[in-house]
Amino acid sequence: MKRIGLFCSGGDAPGMNAAIRAVARAAIFHGMEVVGIMRGYKGMIAGSFRPLDARSVSGIISHGGTILRTARCPEFLSYKGRKKAFEQLRKAGIEGLVAIGGDGTFRGAHRFTSEFDIPVIGITGSIDNDCFGTDYTLGFDTAVNIALDAIDRLRDTAASHDRIFFVEVMGRRSGAIALWSGLAGGAEAVFIPESRENLRAVARELVEGRRRGKTSAIVVVAEGEEAGGAFEIARKFKGLTGLDYRVTILGHIQRGGSPTAFDRILGTRSGVAAVEALRRGKKNLMVGVRDGKMVLVPFSRMWNRRKVPDLGWLGLVKMMSV
Ligand code: F6P
Repeated sequence: MKRIGLFCSGGDAPGMNAAIRAVARAAIFHGMEVVGIMRGYKGMIAGSFRPLDARSVSGIISHGGTILRTARCPEFLSYKGRKKAFEQLRKAGIEGLVAIGGDGTFRGAHRFTSEFDIPVIGITGSIDNDCFGTDYTLGFDTAVNIALDAIDRLRDTAASHDRIFFVEVMGRRSGAIALWSGLAGGAEAVFIPESRENLRAVARELVEGRRRGKTSAIVVVAEGEEAGGAFEIARKFKGLTGLDYRVTILGHIQRGGSPTAFDRILGTRSGVAAVEALRRGKKNLMVGVRDGKMVLVPFSRMWNRRKVPDLGWLGLVKMMSV
C-alpha cells in the first residue's frame, strides 16, 4: 500500500489529534504517503484532501479537537454519495483508510468497504466510552477529568452554602462519564440512562444524610437519563425535599481542551496499530484496547452489542456517601 487516507467523523474528542499524528508518522515511517480528508465523509465526497507530511502534524498532540475537522454527512447514507466518495479516493490514489469516530462512522465504513474495494480500519474517538469491544474510547479519560474538576469546584461552593448541586454531564446514551466522575468526585448520587434510580429513595437518602451531619451534596446526572435532565430531576427533588439547590450543565466544555496523558498515549498506540493493520492487509476492523493490550475488533461485532458501564459502581457511590 503506497498511499492512505485519514479522516475524523461524528463528534470530536480530545486525543483525536494524537491519533492523527500517530497515523501520519507511522505511515511515513513505513514509507507510505498520507492524505488528510477534511470533514469526514463530507470531504471525501467533495474531494477535500490535504497531503500530510511528518511536519504538518507537529505540535498537535497537546491540542483538543481535530485538525482534520469533523462533520455528519447524510449524503454518505446513499449509494450515490458513497460511489462519489470512492471515485474521489481513486482519483487521489488512496488505497486504504483510517477512520476516527464512533459506531455511526464504522457502520458507514463497513458498508463502504462491502460495496467498493477499499480497506478501512477504525479508531474509536468518543468521549462517551460507549463502544463495545474496547475498554476505553479516545477522549473519555479527558472528559471524565474535566467533569471531575468541575465537580471539585462545585463542591467548594456547595459546602459553603449548605446546598445541593445537580451537575449534568454528557452522555446521550451512556452513563460512563457520570459514573466515573461521580465516584471520583464523591457524589452523593448518580443518575445514568442504563439504570433506573428511584427518585424518592434518593431524595430520602439526601434528607437522611442531613440528619447524619451532611450539609451539602453533589448529584451527577447523565444528559441521557430517562427521568429528565438535571433541571427536571432537581425540580422533582425540590418537590420531595424542599431543599435549596443549584444546577450546572457542563455541556461541550467536556469535549475541548488538552487531552490527558492517557488519551495521548491511547491515540498514539491506536494510530500505530491502525497503520500496522492496513499494512498486514486487514480491513473492517476497529482498533481497541483490552486489559492494556491493543486489539482488533470486527466492526460488525461492536455495533451489535451495547457497552454498559459497571452498574455495581452505583452501589459504591451509595456506600461512600454514608
Ligand atoms: O457522542 C459524544 C457526545 O458528546 C454526546 O455525549 C452528546 O450527547 C453529543 O455528542 C452531543 O452532540 P452534538 O455535538 O452534535 O451536540
